[in-house]
Amino acid sequence: MPNLPLGIPSNLDKYFFNRKKELAQLNIFLSGFKDDIANQLLVTGRRGVGKSFLLMKLKRELPDNVLSAYLDLSKIHGIQKGKLTEEKVMHSLFEAMLNSLKDKSTLMKIYNLKDSLLKKISPKTYDFKGAGNLLGIPLPQVDTDYEKLSSLVMEFPQNVVDNNRQSIDGFVIILDEFQLIGEFENPEAFFWLIRSFTQDQDNVTYIFTGSTSAASEIVDQINGAQGAFGGRMIQFPVEPFSEEDTYDYLKEMIPEIKFTPEGLKRFYKCTGGYPSYINSFCNTMSGGRPYDNQMVIEAFYSKLDQIAIMWVTIWSSLSDYEKEIIIILVENGALNWSELLSQVDYSNKTLLKYANRLKNKGILSHIDRKYTIDDMMLRSWLKYRQENDGYYPP
Ligand SMILES: Nc1ncnc2c1ncn2[C@@H]1O[C@H](COP(=O)(O)OP(=O)(O)OP(=O)(O)O)[C@@H](O)[C@H]1O
Ligand SMILES: [Mg+2]
Repeated sequence: MPNLPLGIPSNLDKYFFNRKKELAQLNIFLSGFKDDIANQLLVTGRRGVGKSFLLMKLKRELPDNVLSAYLDLSKIHGIQKGKLTEEKVMHSLFEAMLNSLKDKSTLMKIYNLKDSLLKKISPKTYDFKGAGNLLGIPLPQVDTDYEKLSSLVMEFPQNVVDNNRQSIDGFVIILDEFQLIGEFENPEAFFWLIRSFTQDQDNVTYIFTGSTSAASEIVDQINGAQGAFGGRMIQFPVEPFSEEDTYDYLKEMIPEIKFTPEGLKRFYKCTGGYPSYINSFCNTMSGGRPYDNQMVIEAFYSKLDQIAIMWVTIWSSLSDYEKEIIIILVENGALNWSELLSQVDYSNKTLLKYANRLKNKGILSHIDRKYTIDDMMLRSWLKYRQENDGYYPP
């Protein structure tokens, strides 16, 4: 049986397939650093489409004169308990930025200060004395610790570039799972803060990415007409593999598994070209007789828990309200707001809160005034469990 990665493999190059066009396009957006031009990017796309893997590959292949930091907000301590705060994000961001200096011999001097710098901004003590001096950053006279912390962190990347122009032209900062910022008390304020710094920084690019639909509230807050970046961010959608890409991928990664032409077509239909589903489906298959249409369908339904493993995990992290909204929409198809509201026994306000959460997580879509769950794997899995167990997964 194949053993394709279900997360991001540590050996990126071994498993990374194609995406040449996307990488070339993204690199164009990052090519202006030498001339002091920095773009801000928003990379969107459904769950499992390959955003994180693509950006890690991009990061890895950046030229030597560009520094880069990667921060996955879902990995910040406390996030699972819904305790993500602005301070924690700033702290982790600073740590990620400092870590990125490690590989550059000319920046070792700053990197070696890492521990003492991090201690100075430790949320418990907030002892900033000297932190700015160490970095050559004048700290502004501001009132709150959070303002001090955020300006220290936000000024840092441009300062590193300015002080090392002979070897460094730009700094790329990737913020993954950025939709979690929607859980802050005031997400807009956070986006405005970043905007206010980046507008004077000509050599720093932020790439926001996460599983959220291009039409979600959080995308509006960051880049909508009234949002912090007011449409100035370049929005870059990542699409699933094409049919042809999927076939080439299978040929290259799992040559031992054979398909008839109809079997291949069915496989593409079942996975939608999402690399996450392609991988998890492949891992349930075995060599021998070529998979035809019927065999693919049978394999799909008999291994659905394994194929939809991503949703099994996400499902267990959702609140009862969120689960209920999903189930209503899976059973009823697309509903408008009043239809949806009539199906629940809580208030408009509560429904709004959880519907927005689901939108930010990229699970709920809102198109033409109708709400739907458009991930077919999530729908198939729920229906299948209901039919087999007699109830939806708890
Ligand atoms: N270009 C690729 N080549 C090979 N495998 C890929 C590629 N892109 C993604 N994958 C595989 O698909 C899975 C999902 O990829 P990834 O985690 O990057 O998706 P994502 O869009 O970031 O999802 P999420 O929104 O859940 O974070 C991973 O197991 C990864 O190994
Ligand atoms: Mg990801």
